[in-house]
Amino acid sequence: MALETLFSKFQINSMELKNRAVMPAIGTGYGNKDSTVSDRLIAYLARRARGGTGLIITEICAVDPRGRGFKAEVGIWDDSFIPGLSGISDAVHREGGKVAAQLHHAGRETFKEVLDALPEAPSAIPSVILNQPCEEMSIDRIHAVVNAYGSAALRAKKAGFDAVEIHGAHGYLITQFLSPFSNHRSDEYGGTDEKRARFAIEIAEAVRRSVGPDYPVLMRVSADELIRGGYDLEFMKWLAPNLEAAGVDALHVSVGVYSTPGNLSIPSMDTEEGFNLFRARAIKELVSIPVIGVGRIHDPRLAEEALQRGDADLISFGRQHLTDPDFLLKARKGDYDDIRWCMACNQGCIERLSYEMKSATCSLNPECGQEYRGEPQKVLSPKRVWIIGAGPAGLSAALTAKKRGVDVEVLEREQEAGGQLISASKPPHKEGLSVWYRWALRQAKKAGIPVKCGITVTRELLEKEKPDAVVLAAGALPVVPKISGIDGTHVYDARDVLLEKVPFSGPAVVLGGGYVGMETMDFLLEKGIGVTLLEMQDFPPVGKHTAHGYWLHRRIRKGGGTIVTGAKVTEIHRSSVSFIKDGIVTELSPVNMVVTALGVCPEHQLADVLTSMAIPFLSAGDVISPRRIIEAIHEGHRAGLEI
Ligand SMILES: Cc1cc2nc3c(=O)[nH]c(=O)nc-3n(C[C@H](O)[C@H](O)[C@H](O)COP(=O)(O)OP(=O)(O)OC[C@H]3O[C@@H](n4cnc5c(N)ncnc54)[C@H](O)[C@@H]3O)c2cc1C
Ligand SMILES: Cc1cc2nc3c(=O)[nH]c(=O)nc-3n(C[C@H](O)[C@H](O)[C@H](O)COP(=O)(O)O)c2cc1C
Ligand code: SF4
Repeated sequence: MALETLFSKFQINSMELKNRAVMPAIGTGYGNKDSTVSDRLIAYLARRARGGTGLIITEICAVDPRGRGFKAEVGIWDDSFIPGLSGISDAVHREGGKVAAQLHHAGRETFKEVLDALPEAPSAIPSVILNQPCEEMSIDRIHAVVNAYGSAALRAKKAGFDAVEIHGAHGYLITQFLSPFSNHRSDEYGGTDEKRARFAIEIAEAVRRSVGPDYPVLMRVSADELIRGGYDLEFMKWLAPNLEAAGVDALHVSVGVYSTPGNLSIPSMDTEEGFNLFRARAIKELVSIPVIGVGRIHDPRLAEEALQRGDADLISFGRQHLTDPDFLLKARKGDYDDIRWCMACNQGCIERLSYEMKSATCSLNPECGQEYRGEPQKVLSPKRVWIIGAGPAGLSAALTAKKRGVDVEVLEREQEAGGQLISASKPPHKEGLSVWYRWALRQAKKAGIPVKCGITVTRELLEKEKPDAVVLAAGALPVVPKISGIDGTHVYDARDVLLEKVPFSGPAVVLGGGYVGMETMDFLLEKGIGVTLLEMQDFPPVGKHTAHGYWLHRRIRKGGGTIVTGAKVTEIHRSSVSFIKDGIVTELSPVNMVVTALGVCPEHQLADVLTSMAIPFLSAGDVISPRRIIEAIHEGHRAGLEI
């Protein structure tokens, strides 16, 4: 596909863009503790600009200290921030890109640790998700915040930004005013649609006044809150022309707020690609300013189709910029197989930022956020390094070590490379995991890394071949607890079920409610097999708070699956399973198949062998302790840098 429309120039007010690809705001947590811009943030954004994106939008920048939503959120509330902010615009310009600053006030959607004062909001209604008290804003305070947006926009202009984007989406302060759910005011800022819209419109007008008529002003909106009692698309269709009249030059049409079920603002792998484009189109039909479409659009070919259909004028690629900053350059050359695709897992980016309180990165791209460290040092005299295991940790280690000039070889016991990702990619919506390991194997082939399958590394082999050093990435194997009857011929490990190595016959019982158990249940339900899941803990280990967790629970519920928590399995029989819950023994029957998903155990036996043979080695991934893809890929990368 030629991608002619995507790579055509585009004008927003006085700003000429070299193409219609946008990197939307992505909060990183890379700012300094005092809210100033860090070298890390600059290097990360410059790297994205080098990939050829037409317009880069910075992450949220707080227009007021009380409007910070995250620790280390970049500030734009004072002139003292201008020199630091100029570092971003200079760096993006040096790469030939254009950059807009996103102006933000979190209102009630802020974490406890961030503010010394109570968060402020249109009404004193706590955030549904973050659930901390907040204070109703006085009229004076509303006017002050409106002015703060105007002053912040002027600072962005002075700092060399090509545009500003007012963040009116995702449940932050502006959305809180727009929403009948969070705005219960009875003064001129609440009550009717017009009054709830007043705050947003006054901000757009203040920004326009402050920056003059030619300077591009974008506004991000959530087209629909998708919550009970919130505003909907019809309201946004009414508001959009009013925002245009207030001086907005382009509308960036996102969706959802913090409490939208399934987090559709940052949709997971469970949500269809391009699912939000119809909302961009609905708004585009009513305004004469450009509209930017966003929401799980990772593939430039999908963007081209959307642009050609007229759904939007520009397309935002969010997380794809984290996973592969060169994806547009590769797409332009038609090298789609070389693109490292975002799998919409949210694990390394938004969930790390919001749930783990750590800076964002990408599970699949260990270099995301590390750009400021520069290129890794090449080795002077290449060593012969064995990588044991071709799972994500081993493949990641091999790719990085090879880049440094190390003579690497990957040895894998199974007949196929990929490790646990082979079975992990089988449940519904999880194909992205196999896309990653196929990408990694392709890169390994291109780099000339031998990946030898069907070879088990043993002490004997190590003694015979004597590699100079080793990366031990041998992963983990399923544990089989001592339960009477677990050795029955109708009892299978979840991985064997997912790989369809065993015959299916329902009704089935899955033992263990972690991701492996839940996803195997999802897999079986999709195949029409009735499943009951027994979990020993009193609550399902997979919560509904993450997007994937939410959709997983929902599919299981709709598919007729039953989850029993607090259930300790005591015995497996040929056609039933006994468990004890609240002191009562229950026999579940009939049961034709039992599936175990009871955890994994590291395969670290070779660590002792390597130590005793004095072969230097580094370990990475599940072999250290069973965890996730992010740890495997990032630790593998680190081992590849250090070996
Ligand atoms: C069904 C399922 C679903 C999952 N879903 C997710 C998910 O959604 N998100 C997530 O983050 N994580 C998920 N995981 C966990 C994730 O797959 C693992 O954390 C990850 O694969 C660990 O990577 P690794 O490279 O350390 O080990 P592995 O993937 O286990 O790879 C180790 C490799 O080493 C090989 N090996 C072992 N010993 C030797 C030897 N002596 N010689 C040669 N080769 C050897 C093994 O055969 C294996 O291929 C899932 C796991 C499963 C099973
Ligand atoms: C880690 C992370 C941080 C984000 N921070 C912001 C932000 O600061 N401002 C904003 O408007 N949207 C933010 N978003 C939403 C993205 O801009 C984008 O709308 C969303 O990821 C959906 O697009 P995608 O499917 O192309 O990734 C963030 C998303 C992620 C993953
Ligand atoms: S962590 Fe997952 S969702 Fe986030 S950018 Fe990486 S692959 Fe995409």
